[in-house]
Amino acid sequence: MKTNYIFKVREKQMKFELNLLDSKICEKEFVKRKNLTKFEKFNTFLHSGEENWTAWVDYPSKTINHLQGIKDAANKVKKNGDVLIVIGIGGSYLGASACISALSCNSSMKVEFCGLNFSNEDLIDIFEKNNDKNVYVNVISKSGRTTETIIAFDYAVSFLKSKYKSKFKDHLFITTDKSTGYLRDFATKHNVISFEIPEKMGGRFSVLSAGLFPMLCAGIDIDKLLKGACLAEEDLKLTNSENPAYRYALSRYLLNKKGKYIELLSTFYPRLSGIGAWWTQLFAESEGKDKKGIFPTNLNFSRDLHSVGQFIQQGTPIVFETFLSVDEVGKDRILEKIDESSPIKYLEGKSVEEVNLAAQKGTIEAHISANVPVLQITIGRVDEEHIGYILYFFELACALSGKFLGIDPFDQPGVEDYKRNLRKYLINN
Ligand code: PA5
Repeated sequence: MKTNYIFKVREKQMKFELNLLDSKICEKEFVKRKNLTKFEKFNTFLHSGEENWTAWVDYPSKTINHLQGIKDAANKVKKNGDVLIVIGIGGSYLGASACISALSCNSSMKVEFCGLNFSNEDLIDIFEKNNDKNVYVNVISKSGRTTETIIAFDYAVSFLKSKYKSKFKDHLFITTDKSTGYLRDFATKHNVISFEIPEKMGGRFSVLSAGLFPMLCAGIDIDKLLKGACLAEEDLKLTNSENPAYRYALSRYLLNKKGKYIELLSTFYPRLSGIGAWWTQLFAESEGKDKKGIFPTNLNFSRDLHSVGQFIQQGTPIVFETFLSVDEVGKDRILEKIDESSPIKYLEGKSVEEVNLAAQKGTIEAHISANVPVLQITIGRVDEEHIGYILYFFELACALSGKFLGIDPFDQPGVEDYKRNLRKYLINN
């Protein structure tokens, strides 16, 4: 197995590596003047503050010391509440949900998500099952007008009003655009506590802003999360061929030109599956336009080796794979005293993580031998700093990747079509 590049973060206690295993991309591509010139131009522009929709680029360093207001609000909720119900869709919930599922949280408070579809049954079930609990609600919507979100919000407000009467406002938190939209107007009219999503920040790039309140309620240390993101913000300003976001973005672009149309973000660590779902939305909505883009999808191994593994190994050769790996796991266990006749007798004395690692190595080797290009991203541990680092890394890499493709990574004109049709059917009938 060939290892041709490893980037490590400078902090000793943190590890982030991008490892281009058998990626079929030669080293000379990364140092080619043509590619470097493009990258330098893109990265400088993204960091200049002149490009629209790039408020996320320096947001971690700008906000890390200004979190007291949001922390006070979350402390109140954690002290009194049993459950926080978060309403939002797409980029407005995936980041928070990813972090909450990745990080073992020390809060007794449960965080649930709704407004992800038009299922009234699911919506009502979430609120009804929590009827005997002390409920708080956080609605998150940049535009303040997304239909799924507002239908759920409408229901949540009636639920809170009937449960808490005139005190319903104390149970509601609104995260939305600073000055415009229905939710902003609602917050002002009813004097509801609100958090701002910066004007130049789109939903899918808002995990480290809009996502913070639910994360706090779930017990995540957002100082550490933002510290990790700040490190990435600093490291990835680098405009030379060593920048891992450039290497990842360029590798994707070149693989796409070689006919690889699908990227699998595969992980053997189920805690990272939410990060995979967040990554899928980030790249799909950012890149899939003008008949271009790589179709991103995330897989959870070894579960999915028993479903799509066959396709990866022997199906149409349009796939490349990025493995998301972890060095140290929190809880491991030795397989002891295994029954003589058990089919896993040969594993006696090994730890479950040794088995997981062997499965990962074996899978990477099998996929490479089937000519599937493989990249690997490894973090030291699943903790706040590492997750903050990787979220920022993917955001920057996604923006750069869109630039290499020649599309605008920050708009999503195609999503509007279904919304237009939905209105057409409901207004005319
Ligand atoms: O990433 C995006 O921009 C979208 O996925 C939005 O987050 C999603 O459509 C929800 O929009 P809003 O936050 O305006 O309700």
